[in-house]
Amino acid sequence: MEQDVKRLEEELQADLQKANTAEDIEALRVKYLGRKAVVNQLFAKVPTLSGEEKGKWGRGLNLLKGTITAAIEEKIKGFKGKEEKIDLTYPSKEFDKGSKHILSVVSQDICSVFEKLGFSIVEGTEIEDEWHNFSALNIPLDHPSRDAFDTFYLDLAQKNTRQGKFLLRSHTSPSQARVMSEMKPPLAVVSPGRVYRPDQVDASHSFMFHQVEGFAIDKDINFAHLKGVLLNFVRLFFAPDTNLRFRPHFFPFTEPSAEVDISCFICKGKKEKCSLCKGKGWIEILGCGMIHPKVLANCNIDPKKYKGFAFGMGVERPAMLKYGINDIRLFYENDVKFLEQF
Ligand code: PHE
Repeated sequence: MEQDVKRLEEELQADLQKANTAEDIEALRVKYLGRKAVVNQLFAKVPTLSGEEKGKWGRGLNLLKGTITAAIEEKIKGFKGKEEKIDLTYPSKEFDKGSKHILSVVSQDICSVFEKLGFSIVEGTEIEDEWHNFSALNIPLDHPSRDAFDTFYLDLAQKNTRQGKFLLRSHTSPSQARVMSEMKPPLAVVSPGRVYRPDQVDASHSFMFHQVEGFAIDKDINFAHLKGVLLNFVRLFFAPDTNLRFRPHFFPFTEPSAEVDISCFICKGKKEKCSLCKGKGWIEILGCGMIHPKVLANCNIDPKKYKGFAFGMGVERPAMLKYGINDIRLFYENDVKFLEQF
């Protein structure tokens, strides 16, 4: 018996040294203290011993069991201590930081140039009604842009309100109508946001795109103010030596109206084969004009007292021009490889 116990003690010491993981320790516990474990096997021998020996080894084995339990518990404690130690100085895993979408950046850049010129920013609504998107803007009932082929009409429960059918706005100009109806002049506002048109998607068209609308109203606003504001804008946004060209145009909500081109900032009008302006020297960027008196009246502003100018530009086109992007679809595909370049 004495030898058995000695051997067991030595074996335990060796096993304790080797045990490194939670599984090792559990195996130790089973081996030494489990129901069929070595200690219990020794206990089974006690009844076969002589009277005096019985008492001695009965107590001796109980003591041994206590020692083994304590040794194993000690080992578990030491192990837990090690496992739970967290090294706060260890460098963390690198994580991907998000960033603004390039269209948000460009839209905000455009708006902040106008902010510097004294304009405030007001966002309109993407779901509009016929009044704000068309009628208030002097767009007649038979105008082709009102056609279902050119506007996304919404099938909402309240189909025919006094303001007409609901739709996804086809331009940001309804923001003008909303601000003018709700606020009193003098006003100088830019309004960025998404617009929708059922266009066939290709490299330069999308059924959803972005615009920035701008307008100013006061007692003596004239076309020269419009020219000055736009010239300042293009020089701050594109390049300091950019020039403007106004071409007569027609919009129902402005009179007179113009389309505006910027001088090509790549070739400065000097290259016949310029990839940007195709040798024309000019690039179209926006529509504008003096707000039609009927539009002012529709929005409860007295056209005899007040005048104003308005302009509307896309965001995708200036973004493509400025960053050399050749396909509008790239903006919407959420390809990180494309987006993270900006
Ligand atoms: N709303 C016009 C468009 O989408 C742009 C525009 C705005 C023109 C304001 C003149 C004045 O094409």
